[in-house]
Amino acid sequence: MSTPPSVNRQRRNLLVGTAAAGGAAGLAVAVPFVESMQPSERAKAMGAPVEVDISNIAPGEQKTLEWQGKPVWVLHRTRAQIEGIAKSDELVVDPGVEQAQQPSSLKGNKLRSEKPEFFIAVGVCTHLGCSPVYQQDQDRFYCPCHGSKFDLAGRVYKGVPAPTNLVVPKYTYLSDTKLLIGTDKKEG
Ligand code: FES
Repeated sequence: MSTPPSVNRQRRNLLVGTAAAGGAAGLAVAVPFVESMQPSERAKAMGAPVEVDISNIAPGEQKTLEWQGKPVWVLHRTRAQIEGIAKSDELVVDPGVEQAQQPSSLKGNKLRSEKPEFFIAVGVCTHLGCSPVYQQDQDRFYCPCHGSKFDLAGRVYKGVPAPTNLVVPKYTYLSDTKLLIGTDKKEG
């Protein structure tokens, strides 16, 4: 008994589909060979450290970049802003910086930074994940979603919904003007 025409058509479609997939697989092997020499933009966004030039951030200004799909801030604090942080201890939940929200080397460091003038933090509110805004005129970060406030070291204020300080990621200085965000080791 011969195979019905509809079954033959299905078999033919299956064979054509398999051949096309095989062709695509062949291409997939050939094309990314060159690309594999460089991590893709997506791979970088997902985890690789990100280099940032901080030479063009004026005192009082903040720059935002992306690391692991999250915003990361680099704030160039002025001398007055640095002194203001030291005076806001009674306003914040964790004045002594005991919470584990920064690399261990910064525990107990009230400025929560390697150099006083540059503050680096993940720009994600520790309440429900909105992105706070830098309010230079009030020397703080303010989350518009539910009103959480953080000082310019990312220490959370008392009486707001966010329970903890902003996260400070690992980072290292490659030079006076270059930072590597996402690792505390210089890559060589
Ligand atoms: Fe920031 Fe709620 S997400 S206060």
